Amino acid sequence: MRFKVYIDLMSIWLPKLDGRRGAKYQRIVEALAEDIASGRLPPGTRLPPYRELAYRLAVSAQTVSRAYTQATRRGLLRGETGRGTFVADPSEGAASTPPPSLTRDTSGPVDLSRNLPSPSRADGPLREALREIGAASDLRMFLDYQSGNGTRRDHDAAARSWLQECGLTAAGGEVIGTCGAQHGLFCALTALLSPGDVMLTEALGYAPVRVVAERLALRILPVEIDTEGVCPESLERICRERPVRLLYLTPTLQSPTTATLSEGRRRRLAEIARRHDMLILEDDVFGPLKEDRPPPIAQFAPERTIYVTSLSKSVAPGLRIGFVHAPSALATAVRRAVVLSVWMTPPLMDEIAVRLIRSGAALRLLQEQRATAHRRQVLARRILGRFDLHADPQGLHAWLRLPDGWTAGSFRTAAEERGVLVSDARDFAATGVDAPAAARLSLGHEPADHRLKTGLARLADLLSRPPQSDVLFL
Ligand SMILES: Cc1ncc(COP(=O)(O)O)c(C=O)c1O
Repeated sequence: MRFKVYIDLMSIWLPKLDGRRGAKYQRIVEALAEDIASGRLPPGTRLPPYRELAYRLAVSAQTVSRAYTQATRRGLLRGETGRGTFVADPSEGAASTPPPSLTRDTSGPVDLSRNLPSPSRADGPLREALREIGAASDLRMFLDYQSGNGTRRDHDAAARSWLQECGLTAAGGEVIGTCGAQHGLFCALTALLSPGDVMLTEALGYAPVRVVAERLALRILPVEIDTEGVCPESLERICRERPVRLLYLTPTLQSPTTATLSEGRRRRLAEIARRHDMLILEDDVFGPLKEDRPPPIAQFAPERTIYVTSLSKSVAPGLRIGFVHAPSALATAVRRAVVLSVWMTPPLMDEIAVRLIRSGAALRLLQEQRATAHRRQVLARRILGRFDLHADPQGLHAWLRLPDGWTAGSFRTAAEERGVLVSDARDFAATGVDAPAAARLSLGHEPADHRLKTGLARLADLLSRPPQSDVLFL
């Protein structure tokens, strides 16, 4: 393995300590975490020796040593006897140790079918939060039914600050905690729609919401999408033909197409919804990943938009922490749906989320997710760039339009034969919509870059042959 050495005679990594609070060693750790998350210090970078950095920062060598020890404990750094201290590579750790969860088995096929965030260093901040919670004098509040006080109030403040991070700064509205975005969507649909109501979904989109809608006996109609997402013309046409109760859509980093709606289109969709008195269920589960995204649609139609997001794709899906923002007129019904489904979100998980958000760890993990997503997208582009690949540099997935001769199904089967799992367009197509010849490649699920590379290379090899020869092999 080759290491990048970050010191030479001219340059040395120097943490920016101005404007940070806390002890000096903590400020160094924070700066380090930020520079790693932003990609300024990539995995494998060798850090300056204690004394060198201490001299440059005019602090004691002990301060730097303490900072490095703390950062190592958090999984940011690793020391090698006799060689120095290096920025840790989360994918290496995951490859050499047993998979962190049953969902990321690395013994079988390369899995590009599940849209999970990349492995991150979330375990460090989680350990810290658990240590702090464990040291609290009274843990009983985490074991009881919750009222509007205590952890609930802290949770509301933390949720609002996270929603601000998502770009939701519109005045008014209420925040409702849920067990992930899926739960938020479920509660919104059960609370606000009745059997027979017409609900629109993207022609290709997130299938579990359609399953819920079917169970609620809603009438589901597809709205056309193009490379930017929902087409306003299609929406307008459908709304002229019949009353529509709700439009469900994912405006940022849409799955599977990776499309992000421009601000102009968001405004147009908001205006159409207002004119036809339609609700909007805005699924922004991927939104925080994209740094330069336009404001949420909820900003343009706050009186009718139920905005749903979670920490799943940006911090950790296992926390099961989600947020719904709804206008007050609708919020009571959604809150009641939360009560009827789970009574309340688990207070201990809420507390962990509050601490991660308040300490800035959630934001750092989000930045790390973006950096990893970017690295993996570069990898995908390098290997599959000669094909019709659609992707966003900060997205967790890519959308591969297949060359002539392939169908979604034949490609998926052939990929599986070569040990690579993908999702294909049929997994996302609404009833009555012809699934195009395309596959979604999720780049976050595989813990190690080298396995991802292997999987992508196998797909490139597969695509460089005429599909017919594969049919003969099957
Ligand atoms: C578009 C979309 N919405 C919602 C969800 C559910 O997210 P959560 O884990 O927060 O329930 C997912 C999960 O993959 C998703 O892809």
